[in-house]
Amino acid sequence: MLSTLAEIEVRRQAVANSVERNHKSALGQFMTPMSIAQFMAHLLPVPDKGPIRVLDPGAGIGSLSSAFLSRVLAAGRAAADCEVVAYELDEALHSELRQSLESFTDVTYEIIGGDFISHAVDELFLSRHHFTCAVLNPPYKKINSKSDQRGLLRSTGIETVNLYSGFVALALAMLKPGGHLVAIIPRSFCNGPYYRPFRDMMLSEAAIWHIHIFEKRNTAFNGDEVLQENVILHLEKHGTQGEVTVSSSMDASFSDLSSRLWPFSDLVRENNPERFIHIPVTGKASEIGLPSFATHPLDALGVGVSTGPVVDFRLKAHLRKESGEGSVPLLYPAHFVNYGTCWPKANFKKNNAIASNSETRKGLFPNGYYAIVRRFSAKEERRRVRANVLTPEDTAGAETIGFENHLNVFHCKKHSLEPAVAFGLVAYLNSTAVDTYFRSFNGHTQVNATDLRQLTYPNLATLKNLGEWLMGCSTCSQEAIDKKIRKLEWTPLFIPPTHSKSWNY
Ligand SMILES: C[S@@+](CC[C@H](N)C(=O)[O-])C[C@H]1O[C@@H](n2cnc3c(N)ncnc32)[C@H](O)[C@@H]1O
Repeated sequence: MLSTLAEIEVRRQAVANSVERNHKSALGQFMTPMSIAQFMAHLLPVPDKGPIRVLDPGAGIGSLSSAFLSRVLAAGRAAADCEVVAYELDEALHSELRQSLESFTDVTYEIIGGDFISHAVDELFLSRHHFTCAVLNPPYKKINSKSDQRGLLRSTGIETVNLYSGFVALALAMLKPGGHLVAIIPRSFCNGPYYRPFRDMMLSEAAIWHIHIFEKRNTAFNGDEVLQENVILHLEKHGTQGEVTVSSSMDASFSDLSSRLWPFSDLVRENNPERFIHIPVTGKASEIGLPSFATHPLDALGVGVSTGPVVDFRLKAHLRKESGEGSVPLLYPAHFVNYGTCWPKANFKKNNAIASNSETRKGLFPNGYYAIVRRFSAKEERRRVRANVLTPEDTAGAETIGFENHLNVFHCKKHSLEPAVAFGLVAYLNSTAVDTYFRSFNGHTQVNATDLRQLTYPNLATLKNLGEWLMGCSTCSQEAIDKKIRKLEWTPLFIPPTHSKSWNY
């Protein structure tokens, strides 16, 4: 049967090379390489008896259902017990799709054209939930909030913002209880407020059994310029949640595949109301967690974090190259270097200052001590979370200052933090533990204020201890910060009077 799959793979490459780039991205037509299709097929269990009804939404040329059929037949099940329903919008692919499914003699199949979402909604309306499994690589495209597709999804109780999550939600709904679903999808559903209803639905409807992550971006669909970080997800409808296998490989060859089991509570934290899904990015248990002393939500410390309020293109008329009479310092990401601040910047393409007047004033902060985290990092950068401290001296003691929109600012009710707290936050946020933890739930390059609010932090005494240490360092390095954090793990700042197992420092 491998020769059938090999032949499908040859046709997939030919189709991928012949389809125009615009057509590909309009329909999200990034076909799955056979090595990934086979990996996905092996995550789906093959039942010993009974009919096997396979749903393949957005089927392309049928690589996924073919890989699964091949596995089912190799497991000794009869082709006559198998049925595939393949939905594919692009009729130009139907003959290739037919050719793939036809190679499995005696398997019943149906190819349905048109939009999967509207067909699926009709099926659900007729209460047809009869598939035993679904295997999908859905199209990836934002769904406009006023579009028909959004309205159709809403009519079945699914509130989501992208075709891929809409496809997964519908496919899950079309499964019988106990049915299994395997999908390769972007990782963006794991965090962020927009995917919260999708996460809620998925976590209440299904058990997660396996998550596979490709360690390098862009390697799953090599050659197709897919930029999102992809994961493979295995769900069981109405399953009882147990430990979750998390595996990873560098690329689609799976040559360095490694995997381990994790308690579900390590992936979806009980105390996280947003229900972020953390994917441990290294094999070591100790590396997914924040330091044991960092148990406090940010607001419990009296600290807030906000996006820099100055959106420069909306305030063009008020921007100034240099600070002078009637203007105040304006801070951009480029002003933050080596854990600190360097302002003004010579020959700066942007602006070092902003006029202080009735239009800009409400967006300005009193000068003071702040911890600043950039909102954007480059794909290849080693760290996602990079924090810098701003002190009043950095901006020559100006009375007020502006923070540009590409920054996150830690503050105390829009005022200065205590100096040691600002420095302490910078040391903590720059630790490897925080960055690793952050990457476990955030697959993209943005670091937003919502994400920073999801972290837990050391208490004020520990933050100040860290801050005083950083203030005393003439230079600082990653190694020094990590060493200090590790030391704090083992040195309680005070011993509670009664010995309790869970110390709250
Ligand atoms: C990412 S490709 C994956 C194809 C195939 N499942 C595979 O893994 O190789 C997504 C497929 O969904 C199809 N598609 C896009 N929008 C669709 C829709 N609304 N309904 C059905 N199919 C759609 C595209 O034409 C494309 O073939």
